[in-house]
Amino acid sequence: MYDFTPADPNDKPALYRDLADAVAAITLGEPDAVANMANCAALMGEFLPDLNWAGFYRVIDGELVLGPFVGRPACIRIPFGKGVCGTAAAEARTMLVDDVHTFPGHIACDAASRSELVVPVLKDGAVIAVIDLDSPSPARFDEIDREGVETIARILAELF
Ligand code: SME
Repeated sequence: MYDFTPADPNDKPALYRDLADAVAAITLGEPDAVANMANCAALMGEFLPDLNWAGFYRVIDGELVLGPFVGRPACIRIPFGKGVCGTAAAEARTMLVDDVHTFPGHIACDAASRSELVVPVLKDGAVIAVIDLDSPSPARFDEIDREGVETIARILAELF
């Protein structure tokens, strides 16, 4: 059994340090990307409060395809440039959206989602996946979340 628990869930920078440590530990020596994404999605779902979806889309043949996640069933394929995920992939940059209802072309996989953070996973300068976090609360994500999830993306990029 793996039992990772954040030291102090109310200290957000510490929470992300503990999450990054847990992701590094559970993926250590494991080359299978699906297994690593699955455990990472589970850890994000356990560590990060107020989420209704946490997971991955992978870049396959020039589009995003649903990967391991925790949350409700989601749309399977997203073209580059479409929605928050497709925009993050096309522009190879993090998207932090306080209110998804105001984002042109937002793809509503779960009507409960109100804010969203999407971080590209970059390997040798190319986007190979995105990490997607959704919350039912508006403006759930801030710069600490952005930095924390970008750190996780860098850890995972080494494993793909
Ligand atoms: N809302 C995303 C689609 C993926 S789901 O949130 C899981 C988007 O607009 O890209």
